[in-house]
Amino acid sequence: MRVAVASDHGGFHLKKVVLQYLEELGIEYRDFGTYSEASCDYPDVARPAAEAVARGEYDRGIIICGTGIGVSIVANKVPGVRAALCHDTFSARMSREHNDANVLTMGERVIGPGLARDIVAVWLRTEFQGGRHARRVNKISGIENDLCREE
Ligand code: RB5
Repeated sequence: MRVAVASDHGGFHLKKVVLQYLEELGIEYRDFGTYSEASCDYPDVARPAAEAVARGEYDRGIIICGTGIGVSIVANKVPGVRAALCHDTFSARMSREHNDANVLTMGERVIGPGLARDIVAVWLRTEFQGGRHARRVNKISGIENDLCREE
């Protein structure tokens, strides 16, 4: 598995926790920035990571900001991305089983490093259940296709 990881300054420290955890798990990743605590704009870091997932260069994405909200909004603008903002392990599991979420977003100002590690662990190992959920996820793709055709 290859994971695209990104954060703005608001998620910089939690991203370091996540990167350390991915190292421990032996999971390959690329850090799409930001690379310092200096203030930056979350769309500038979230978009390249989300697009890399959408292109299939990475299997999953983990994107972090202060709340997880801004990067979630950005990532979900990218066709093919299903980003889930998760601050508990139940949501993390369900976002994989039911929604086939390919991007996880979290907020450094919302949860601590221990819970974030647990969320990442559950989210990475949980498989999509398919079946009736696949029909629903396909309808999400259908919305994207309809909108592309309208352009
Ligand atoms: C940055 O101050 C903050 O707005 C950002 O990290 C994020 O929480 C936006 O949704």
